[in-house]
Amino acid sequence: MPPFLIGLFAIIFALLVFILYIFIRPKLSQLHKLQGPPVNGLFTSHLELILNVSASHEQIDKLVKKYGTSFRINGLASVSQLYLRYLCHSQPSTSQHDERLVTVDPTAMTYILNRPWIYQKPWQSRRLITRLIGEGLLGSEGIIHKRLRKLSNPAFSQQNLREFLPTFFKKALELKECWEKIISQNPHHANEIDICHWLGRLTVDIIGETGFDYPFNAIRNETNEVYLAFRDMFAAVFTAAPEWEIILGIYFPFFNKLWRSKTNVIVEHSQRVIQKVGKDVIKRKKDAFEKGVDPGKDLLTLLLKSNYSDETPPEQRVSNEDLFNQVSTFLFAGSDTSSLALTWTLQLLTEHPDIQTRLRQEFHDLQTSKNVIKNVLDIEDDKSYADMYKAIDVLPFLDNVIRESLRLIPPIHSSLRVATRDDYIPFSGPVLLRDGTTQHGIGIKKGQIVHVSIEAFNVNKNVWGEDAWSFNPDRWLNIPDKARQQPGLYPNNMSFSAGPRTLCSKSIQKGISMSIES
Ligand code: HEM
Ligand SMILES: *[C@@H]1O[C@H](CO)[C@@H](O)[C@H](O)[C@H]1NC(C)=O
Ligand SMILES: *[C@@H]1O[C@H](CO)[C@@H](O)[C@H](O)[C@H]1NC(C)=O
Ligand SMILES: *[C@@H]1O[C@H](CO)[C@@H](O)[C@H](O)[C@H]1NC(C)=O
Ligand SMILES: *[C@@H]1O[C@H](CO)[C@@H](O)[C@H](O)[C@H]1NC(C)=O
Repeated sequence: MPPFLIGLFAIIFALLVFILYIFIRPKLSQLHKLQGPPVNGLFTSHLELILNVSASHEQIDKLVKKYGTSFRINGLASVSQLYLRYLCHSQPSTSQHDERLVTVDPTAMTYILNRPWIYQKPWQSRRLITRLIGEGLLGSEGIIHKRLRKLSNPAFSQQNLREFLPTFFKKALELKECWEKIISQNPHHANEIDICHWLGRLTVDIIGETGFDYPFNAIRNETNEVYLAFRDMFAAVFTAAPEWEIILGIYFPFFNKLWRSKTNVIVEHSQRVIQKVGKDVIKRKKDAFEKGVDPGKDLLTLLLKSNYSDETPPEQRVSNEDLFNQVSTFLFAGSDTSSLALTWTLQLLTEHPDIQTRLRQEFHDLQTSKNVIKNVLDIEDDKSYADMYKAIDVLPFLDNVIRESLRLIPPIHSSLRVATRDDYIPFSGPVLLRDGTTQHGIGIKKGQIVHVSIEAFNVNKNVWGEDAWSFNPDRWLNIPDKARQQPGLYPNNMSFSAGPRTLCSKSIQKGISMSIES
C-alpha cells in the first residue's frame, strides 16, 4: 500500500476516534445518569433556560419540579466540539455539548462552595477576566488567590467601612443635586432619568475614592479617561463583539494580538490607559508612604500598609502588579454589582408604594426621635457620621428591604465552578436517576462544570414558600425553617456567594443600606 494511503487511513481513523471521544465520553460520566431536559440533536444547549433572566424563575422551577433538586443540562461546548460544529457550518457560539450539574440542594452547594481548591472557576472565565482586569482576587486560584486574600481581608472590616461613610454621603448628595437640576431644567421629561446609568456613575465614583483614592468624577461628567476606557472595554467585549470572537480569543489568546479586530483594538487601548493611570496611582501612594505623608484610608492604602507591615511574612507580600490587579478587581467587582443592587431596590420600591411609604416612615421616625439626620448637609465631623452609621445600622425595616431585594434579584445571577479532580458530591436526600434507581450523591469527573445558580437558590419555592417570587421584606421577620436550615448558606447572603471565597457580603450589604438611606 502506498504510504500516503496509510497516512490517509491513519488520519481518518484518528478523526473517528476523536469524534467518538467527544460524543461518547460525556455519556460515560455519572452526571449523564442524572435526569435533565431532553437533548434533541447533537448540539442542544440548555443554557438559555437558566440564563435568560426574563424566564429563568419559571424555567428553573419547572426543571426542579420535573427532575429534582439536582439535574443535568447541556452547557457550552469544549473547543473540540466548537471546531466540529464549525466544520458542520453552524454558528460556533451556540454549539454546546458538555454536561453540567445544576443544583439547588443545599448540601451539594455547601459541599461545592466550601471546597474552592477542588471547585475552581473554569480557566476559560478566568482567562477572560484576567485579560480585562488582571489576575486579582476574582481571576486567581490557589496560592496567588490565597496571598491576595490574606492581604485584602482586613480591608473589608466593618471598621474600615465606617471610614468610607463621608464619601458615601457626599457622593449620594452630589447625585441627588444633579437629578434635581435635571428635573428642574426639564420638568416634562423628569421621568426620563436613566437611573441605572446614573447609579453606575455613582458607584464608580465611590469605588474610585474609597478603593484607591482616585476621583473619577463620573457623576459630574463622563470624561475621565480611565472611566471611559473601562466602560468601552466592557461594552466591546460583552455587548458589541460576536460571541464566537470572544470564545476564539479565550482559546487562542495569540489571535487577540495578531488580529486587529475592533474589539481587540479597543481592549488594547483601554488597557494602555488603565495601566498608565493605575501605575501613577500606586506610585503616588508609595511616595506618600515614603515621605511620611498621611496616605489616606482607601483600600489600596490598606493593602500597601498590610504589605509593609512586619506581621506580614515575606512570602505573602505582593508585587506592584498584584496590587494593580487588585485595584482593577475592586473597580470591576464593586461598581456594577452595587449599582444594579441599588437600581433594583429602587425599582422594587416604586413597584411597591406601600413598602416605600413604610421605609420612608422609618427614616422619618429616626430623624425626629434621635435627631441624628437632621440635615445630612450639616454633618461635617466624624462623630456625627459615626452616630448616623450606628442609627442606620439598626433600622430593621431598611435591613429587611435590602435583604429581600438582594434575595429576589441577585446582581450576580450565577457563577461557574469546574471540578479539578474526580469527586463525589453528596445530596441532602435521594435523587431519582434516569435509570429509575436513586442515589444520595453524584460522581463528577475532572473538568465537568457545576452551574452555581444563585438566583435558583434565592427564589426556590420549596424553601421560601409559594410567595418566593414576590417582594416581601416582612418575610425576614419570620424565616421559614427550611430557609434557616440551609447549612452554611444562610440565604440572606447567598447573593454574595458562600464559603471561603466570599468577601463582600456583610460590609457591602451595609454600604447599600447607607446609599438607600441617603
Ligand atoms: C451588591 C453588591 C455586590 C454583590 C451582589 C457581590 C457579589 C459577589 C459574588 C456573588 C461573588 C462571588 C463571585 C463568584 O464566585 O464567581 C463576589 C466576589 C467578590 N466581590 Fe463582590 N459583590 C458586591 C459588591 C462588591 C464590592 C463593592 C466589592 C469591592 C469593592 C466586591 C469585591 C469582591 C471581590 C474582590 C470578590 C472575589 C472574592 C474572592 O474570590 O476571593 N464586591 N461578589
Ligand atoms: C427570554 O425569555 C423571554 C420571556 O419568556 C422571551 O420573551 C425572550 O425571547 C427570551 N430571550 C431570548 C434571548 O431567548
Ligand atoms: C468635566 O469635569 C472636569 C472637572 O470639573 C472639567 O475640568 C472638565 O472641563 C469637564 N469636561 C466637560 C466636557 O464638561
Ligand atoms: C511589598 O513588600 C515587599 C517586601 O518589603 C516589597 O519588595 C514589595 O515591593 C512591596 N510591594 C509593593 C506593591 O509595594
Ligand atoms: C451569612 O450570614 C450568616 C448569619 O447572618 C453568617 O453567620 C454567615 O457567616 C454569613 N455567610 C457569609 C458567607 O457571609
